[in-house]
Amino acid sequence: MTLLQMAVTEKRLGGRSILRDIRLALAPGEIVSLVGASGGGKSTLLAIAAGLDTAYQGQVLLGGVAVTGPVDAIGMVFQEPRLFPWLTAAQNIGFGGSFDDQRIAALLAEVGLAGRGDALPHQLSGGQAQRVALARALVRRPRVLLLDEPFSAVDALTRMQLQELLLAVAREHAVTVLMVTHDIDEALFLGDRIVLLGDGVTDYALPAARPRDDGSGAAVRNSILARLHAAGGLALRA
Ligand SMILES: Nc1ncnc2c1ncn2[C@@H]1O[C@H](COP(=O)(O)OP(=O)(O)O)[C@@H](O)[C@H]1O
Ligand SMILES: [Mg+2]
Repeated sequence: MTLLQMAVTEKRLGGRSILRDIRLALAPGEIVSLVGASGGGKSTLLAIAAGLDTAYQGQVLLGGVAVTGPVDAIGMVFQEPRLFPWLTAAQNIGFGGSFDDQRIAALLAEVGLAGRGDALPHQLSGGQAQRVALARALVRRPRVLLLDEPFSAVDALTRMQLQELLLAVAREHAVTVLMVTHDIDEALFLGDRIVLLGDGVTDYALPAARPRDDGSGAAVRNSILARLHAAGGLALRA
């Protein structure tokens, strides 16, 4: 069964072909890590999946229905929180919709920001701001959450906490996740599988249970690193 189905025959930018013959399908409840060389088109692919970019040849289907623009059912989190600086955390989460205060308070609590709804973005740390961005993506009850290197700008410990949070909210909200990361260990930790975007897409299945640093992902890790080296685009930390 497929929830989100992407078939990008071609995506051109600046007179160049950025994506060609990309097929990617997400099953309900899956968490998929998307990795690949820098400049390889990962962000472009995510924008297409989100309905933010419709200038391509191909098709995106959500539950069998064509995605032709932004929809509530697909939430997005970017590398930068992209909060409105003059709005509070709660106002940022609720922006553009009519959500009751209770729902926003519950989401704030869920992302670890109980009682911080009145804080302005400049009063939040980078990790807290990203928690707000996550809550903002969840408030519309998406079925799919797309994340583009969401934890790249925070320190290592915060990053681990945010990874755990993402797993918890994905489970709680039964949301299907496609996350771009340049951190292979993050890809291994979070993903049910890893998709390498290069010359087409390559799928890497992962063992079902993946506690941190137990070494079970080593073979996949080495294989992906070798592919990226061969492509001349080392986007991942060795
Ligand atoms: N507006 C644009 N015009 C022309 N080229 C672009 C534009 N945006 C991105 N690109 C190019 O498209 C390619 C893919 O970019 P991107 O999707 O951001 O890759 P990634 O996220 O994998 O690093 C890059 O080579 C980038 O330079
Ligand atoms: Mg990118």
